[in-house]
Amino acid sequence: MKIMVCGKGGSGKSSLTVLTARVLSKNHGVYVVDSDESNNLLPRMLGMEPPRPLVEYLGGKGTLFEKGEVNITRALATAGKGIRLDELPSEYISSSSDGIRLVTIGKVREYGEGCACPFNFLTRTLLKNLKLETNEIVLVDTDAGIEHLGRGVEEGSDAVLMVADPTAESLELARILKEDVVKLGKTFWLVLNKVTPEIADILRLKAKDRNLEILGTIRFDKEVFKSCLEGSTIKSEKAYEDAEAILKRAGLM
Ligand SMILES: Nc1ncnc2c1ncn2[C@@H]1O[C@H](COP(=O)(O)OP(=O)(O)OP(=O)(O)O)[C@@H](O)[C@H]1O
Ligand SMILES: [Mg+2]
Repeated sequence: MKIMVCGKGGSGKSSLTVLTARVLSKNHGVYVVDSDESNNLLPRMLGMEPPRPLVEYLGGKGTLFEKGEVNITRALATAGKGIRLDELPSEYISSSSDGIRLVTIGKVREYGEGCACPFNFLTRTLLKNLKLETNEIVLVDTDAGIEHLGRGVEEGSDAVLMVADPTAESLELARILKEDVVKLGKTFWLVLNKVTPEIADILRLKAKDRNLEILGTIRFDKEVFKSCLEGSTIKSEKAYEDAEAILKRAGLM
């Protein structure tokens, strides 16, 4: 299954990607695809060294549109197998001690290098043509907002896990994203993150007003907050337990 983790900037996409990957790695093969073109600490949050960006394997960002989906797929595929991330040269895939594997699409690094559209195109192509075994799950940590929706990245996924922090902006984004994801025939899950007891009821009401069903809530966990502040491997007590309960409810555990 291919799951995109989406949401507004700072809502907790990367933190939840890490927690979800850890929970699911107990009974699945888990790959994380880092498709955020700006932030670069996801490898550390997962407790691993950064892999080389996939875009470098394909000859650089400037060549992607010219190559097109067919040639990119051909370049990444193993004969007769389609695209298998574990068949990539080792420098393009990193592993954590808990068996989670990470592939990075690419990062914007230079002044004037142009927009991030080729990265979205590569993520879309990769997701559409990726071959998975039945017990394997791919989690895509996306860039903030819904630029990827405009680029059609969701087409290659099976489900969207929307992470909403306690703001009206997040719930509005969830409403918009849900409409399109459902139209595409994909599964849409909404998770409320950084929830404290004082705001839990208000949030549920605000979601209901927008016709949004909530898969579950993740508590504000100071361990998660602290590890992100330190830029270290995510530590978590309560948020991990919440993520586990949510993934069970989604039928993934
Ligand atoms: N459940 C939680 N409890 C406490 N803090 C949290 C929780 N989830 C995320 N945070 C904090 O929120 C901030 C943003 O988290 P994170 O980087 O995961 O968000 P993001 O959506 O990936 O951000 P970006 O849009 O920049 O990629 C961090 O400081 C992180 O520690
Ligand atoms: Mg992030």
